[in-house]
Amino acid sequence: MKIPTRTQGHFSKSLLLSALILALWRPQGSQAALHIQKIPERPQKNQDLLLSVQGVPDTFQDINWYLGEEAYGGTRLFTYIPELQRPQRDGSAMKQRDIVGFPNGSMLLRRAQPTDSGTYQVAITINPAWTMKAKTEVQVADGWGPSRAWWAVGL
Ligand SMILES: *[C@@H]1O[C@H](CO)[C@@H](O)[C@H](O)[C@H]1NC(C)=O
Repeated sequence: MKIPTRTQGHFSKSLLLSALILALWRPQGSQAALHIQKIPERPQKNQDLLLSVQGVPDTFQDINWYLGEEAYGGTRLFTYIPELQRPQRDGSAMKQRDIVGFPNGSMLLRRAQPTDSGTYQVAITINPAWTMKAKTEVQVADGWGPSRAWWAVGL
């Protein structure tokens, strides 16, 4: 089929426009990706676990951490509001856990227990219309697994 030159011209113009829009949008797209890094990846019982969040914007309203498949009041570990003097407010899922939140969005779970295993979710409110989210599965190993043996050999 022969496409008339005029139509072709229109087509490439709109293609160029689409490419331009994509190029302009992309930086925001990559900014929107939050990622949680577990340090260490496979924590053992009584080990400290850092959930380090990458891709947090410089300014935000608050951060909420949840432990569970669903993110709501009942699974909220704590809220972190950077502009408050005491920025961390513990939620109902905190219980006896020893968790400290950091201004960069990360959290440290001290002396992790197998019962702390589960889905950890973070929600960062940038503004009333925009919340960034990420989740990760945490498995806290109980007792003398192979990695504990390696740890002992390493000493
Ligand atoms: C966030 O802060 C904690 C505590 O200072 C630090 O250990 C962690 O590496 C930081 N994470 C990022 C992604 O900057």
